[in-house]
Amino acid sequence: MGTFRTLVTGGAGFIGSHQLVSLIQAGHDVVVVDNLSNSYRASIAAVEEITGERVEFYAFDVRDTAALSVLIAETAVDAVVHFAGMKHVGESTERPADYYDCNVGGLLSLIKAASDTGLRRMVFSSSGSVYGETSLLPIPERHEHRPSNPYSSTKSICERVLSDLCEADPSWSVVALRYFNPAGAHPSGLLGEDCLGPPSNLLPSLIEAALTGEVVWIHGDDFNTPDGTGVRDYVHVMDVADAHLRALDLIASGRQSGFDAFNIGRGEGVSVRELIAFVEQVSGRRLEVRVGPRRNGDVSALYGDTVKAETCLGLVDYRPLTEICRDAWRFRTVRPNGYSSAIPPADDQL
Ligand code: NAD
Ligand code: WQD
Repeated sequence: MGTFRTLVTGGAGFIGSHQLVSLIQAGHDVVVVDNLSNSYRASIAAVEEITGERVEFYAFDVRDTAALSVLIAETAVDAVVHFAGMKHVGESTERPADYYDCNVGGLLSLIKAASDTGLRRMVFSSSGSVYGETSLLPIPERHEHRPSNPYSSTKSICERVLSDLCEADPSWSVVALRYFNPAGAHPSGLLGEDCLGPPSNLLPSLIEAALTGEVVWIHGDDFNTPDGTGVRDYVHVMDVADAHLRALDLIASGRQSGFDAFNIGRGEGVSVRELIAFVEQVSGRRLEVRVGPRRNGDVSALYGDTVKAETCLGLVDYRPLTEICRDAWRFRTVRPNGYSSAIPPADDQL
């Protein structure tokens, strides 16, 4: 396995911070850019605590092309993992222009900054939500994109931009990873999911409810699924991080040139009620559950076909659902107030 000096955009965020741990522990050098719009600087301190390595961190927006160009040239990074972006589906329906600006504009800025340097390797954070509602399950990568909200459209457009870029310039190698429902936390309990504001995704909401006794609302139990609740494909965030390492390896091996996309999920559909039962089991607490109306735009079931990721990336051993729930629970017991109760940050560089 080769090692890279890797630029990680959005590295202070949920998936990005776990990625830093796995990159550093695999021997890669990392350089991080994050504008901290949806994360805490303390996540970087947690990465340093876990790995024992100092992380080179720069607090700015990836749409600042000039700053990004200077950074790429000066740090001589030879690969980029691009996580930076806005990720809330509901918010994207209220502020679509901000989502296109940040997600599509951010990628274009990164491409422009890279174009003046030798940086031609990228792993891009895409989403299983590009597929939209479908009856073809598990859903294979060849399925057409039918994004049902502005957030998912930005991911689909970014993939198109990257595919066209690779077509026009064969020196680029880009892998888009379409994550389904990344969840869980680093097993140390020091690093986990703590976005600014209350959680809206299911597992963090269940963990919060287990801690506080708040009511859990099931958004509809009249879907066409075995128990009527929504079915999703939850995958451990450290497995998502592992998938990126494998994607970087694939690019380095020369076996992949141009653009390709892979589903990253466990390929197993889990219902809301099933996940509630797992959280009750790992936390030892009974959740107070009520059923409300469906959430706008929710699909009934979405889980990925994992054959391509298995064949091309060698992804086979996924952490089971119990481990996903146990690690998510451990993070909130180690850090009951999330990162706001963590070590104060050092001064940012730049
Ligand atoms: P996150 O919000 O925790 O992390 C994103 C990070 O990017 C944050 O630290 C944020 O501050 C930073 N950021 C946002 N806009 C930026 C900008 N313009 N310049 C610099 N930094 C910026 O989200 P996450 O869950 O870690 O997701 C990472 C990526 O994976 C995102 O692109 C997201 O769309 C994608 N994704 C996430 C999921 C999921 O369920 N978590 C699923 C599929 C895809
Ligand atoms: C899962 C299930 C809800 C909360 C979103 C994005 C997707 C991707 C992952 C970025 C659904 C139900 C939820 C609650 C509930 N992110 N639910 N009560 O909707 O699959 O995907 O995150 O790419 O793009 O759309 O995840 O965790 O919000 O919901 O009943 O309090 O849980 O209706 O069936 P989702 P989720």
